[in-house]
Amino acid sequence: MKLSVISRQIQAHPADALIVPVFSGEPVPSGATGGVDTALGSPDGVPGNGAIARLISLGDYSGKLSEVAVLYSFGLIPAARVLLVGLGNPEALTTELIRQAMGAAARKSQELGCKRIATLALGAGRAGISLRDAAQATVEGALLGAYQFEEHRTGKPKSALEELVLLEANPALLDEAATGARSGEVIANAQNNARTLMNRPPNVLNPASFAAWCADMASETGLACTIMEQPQIEALRMGGVLGVARGSANRPRFIVLEHGLQTVGAGAPLVLIGKGVTFDTGGYSIKTTDGMVGMKGDMGGAAAVAGAMQAIATLNPTRAVVGLMPLVENMISQDSFRPNDVLAMMNGMTVEITSTDAEGRLILADALHFAKRYNPAGVVDIATLTGTANVAMGRNMAATLHAPDDAWAAALLAASARAGERLWRMPLWADYGERMKSDTADMKNGAGDAGAGLGVSAWFLQQFTLAENRSDPAYRWAHLDIAPMMAAKSTSGYQPAGSMGFGVRTMVALALEPALTPALSQGRGLG
Ligand code: BES
Ligand code: ZN
Ligand code: ZN
Repeated sequence: MKLSVISRQIQAHPADALIVPVFSGEPVPSGATGGVDTALGSPDGVPGNGAIARLISLGDYSGKLSEVAVLYSFGLIPAARVLLVGLGNPEALTTELIRQAMGAAARKSQELGCKRIATLALGAGRAGISLRDAAQATVEGALLGAYQFEEHRTGKPKSALEELVLLEANPALLDEAATGARSGEVIANAQNNARTLMNRPPNVLNPASFAAWCADMASETGLACTIMEQPQIEALRMGGVLGVARGSANRPRFIVLEHGLQTVGAGAPLVLIGKGVTFDTGGYSIKTTDGMVGMKGDMGGAAAVAGAMQAIATLNPTRAVVGLMPLVENMISQDSFRPNDVLAMMNGMTVEITSTDAEGRLILADALHFAKRYNPAGVVDIATLTGTANVAMGRNMAATLHAPDDAWAAALLAASARAGERLWRMPLWADYGERMKSDTADMKNGAGDAGAGLGVSAWFLQQFTLAENRSDPAYRWAHLDIAPMMAAKSTSGYQPAGSMGFGVRTMVALALEPALTPALSQGRGLG
């Protein structure tokens, strides 16, 4: 979708639809909406007496969050339609609610067959929301809401929005609106790319094609990109990656994307690690039919990292950021790893396999160890790791956060709040480790205790974040389990049914906004 930001009164703008905000509890539309209302009123143009005020006074429209109503302009203004979008209570407004409301409006105008829509920075100046943040959230809501995955549908293509114009009446404020809109465009496009990678079927999106996408993206954005294939992964002795990958004819990849490592003053890098299982059958610990459908999205962590790196490269902060993506397919064959196998991991520890379906932690373990070579200021891993996270949070409610360091946990929570992506912190008690003792190896990969599944998965990962003495942390680490946010069951706000691309916005906020991450500015390692 093409985006432009121009200075003009909204009612003077020609478009298939103008999207204008209405707050609940405000019977007479004010501001730009008031201007549209007057233009849609009687020819004498009495303010506060137009079509919008009429709709509200009749009780047909209240402006509650994401409520949409369509008005036709009958030539009174150049635009064919006006879509009212509810922003709810103005005091309770947040950028996330702006995103949701704009998403609903964009989807409605798309359904109506509109190609060109125009709007304002919705909610700017309300509840302390700056013009810049409002413009960013508005554009994100529009682009995320209009997202459609149509690569494999035949027949008549669905109608799609082609142009979004953001209008700012005051020319002196145009730059601020444009800056926010531009960030929103970059971030939403990156999140939509993550959604597309996740939505692609596993016979199309495999480790090799995922890596090829990253290589293309890196050359467009200027990221340094290294794609390791089997021989290099073997040379690094990444036993977890190799073990999981063994059963598939689609050989593994290990992708490294780097931003700003050479930049003067960039400091120690932030390292982002994403689970990239392009399909998870469960292996010999095979999933049920119902449990397996949807497992094309099991590379959602890696997709979020790829998307975040794309946005970070484009928005170009001084901070150094590295993205690591182990990519495998978890299949069954003559060559597959099996329960009771023992894998020697990259850090030298041995793991007895009790479930080949607990594969994500095995590939992340090697990536977490690999990250130590960057001497990172902070590490975040993101993964569709456990069904237990779904049970704990409720599907599509929130992702879980495990982070032993309070300051680093606070940074993640601040970034997630800023991004409008819910995270909930979970405990990481050492006692979880008691359940992971093995008779034959240093540990098992699963406890066989469904209730403890989330805690033991984080405990397992933590072992690979430790320094050589196996007790002190090697770096500040946070783990996000996004299994509850893999795919949405139904459409709402800016989220269409299907993959979510969850985590892109939080990781971008973390990388871009120094104020959110005082822990990172304390320098290398644990400061
Ligand atoms: N990819 C799954 C986790 C998952 C489940 C993501 C449902 C999204 C929706 C993961 O690899 C897995 O199978 N985990 C097992 C671990 C268990 C065998 C220790 C689980 O959570 O059941
Ligand atoms: Zn699994
Ligand atoms: Zn998995």
